[in-house]
Amino acid sequence: MTYLLAVDSSISGPDSVSRPLVAEFADSWCAAGPDRSVVSRDLAANPVPHLTTAGLHYAEVLRRPHESVDPAAADLQRELIDEVAGAAAVVIGAPMYNWSIPSTLKTWLDHLHVLGVTTSSDDQPGRLQGIPAVVVSPRGLAYDDSDPGQAGGRPHGACDREDSGRIDGHGRDERGRRLHARRASACGRRTRPRQ
Ligand SMILES: Cc1cc2nc3c(=O)[nH]c(=O)nc-3n(C[C@H](O)[C@H](O)[C@H](O)COP(=O)(O)O)c2cc1C
Repeated sequence: MTYLLAVDSSISGPDSVSRPLVAEFADSWCAAGPDRSVVSRDLAANPVPHLTTAGLHYAEVLRRPHESVDPAAADLQRELIDEVAGAAAVVIGAPMYNWSIPSTLKTWLDHLHVLGVTTSSDDQPGRLQGIPAVVVSPRGLAYDDSDPGQAGGRPHGACDREDSGRIDGHGRDERGRRLHARRASACGRRTRPRQ
């Protein structure tokens, strides 16, 4: 049985924009061929723990003697890597949270990026090489001059409060632009030579 790994990280539950898109992708993927199934990993409902030792970033043979790794943590990391390695494809819901991805998704990625295991070397490819991945990444605001409604989502969350305004193409909202202008003129006054 071939499976698609569907990863969700949105904390917005039924209001989520990324979750239905991930689900729609998964449904289409399943419908495109026989013997296809979906394995779901919900990082919001079941977050994986942070790495607690640098040893988990390296294959066992590359670890330094003092980098002891808790066997349970190593088992979990192996499970996460095997889950991706066994997938025919991966779809990842990765909404923009504070100009980045949800921290739960970052932690999952930290587990997957292991030097000497999932990275390629001269003689062999990394374990995850060649697995196609689709990333669904909605965000609440536009970061250019386009309509926010066309940027993949409605204004939402910390950035759409009335007092913060719309973030423009340079990542500054209206108040930010006013502040920036004041700073520029204050700076100009300080540096202007005396007449
Ligand atoms: C904690 C949090 C942080 C957010 N930070 C940003 C941001 O930095 N920029 C932005 O454009 N939208 C931001 N948003 C809005 C989301 O990106 C937007 O609502 C998106 O649709 C979220 O996907 P989801 O509904 O699947 O969670 C944030 C939302 C939340 C909940």
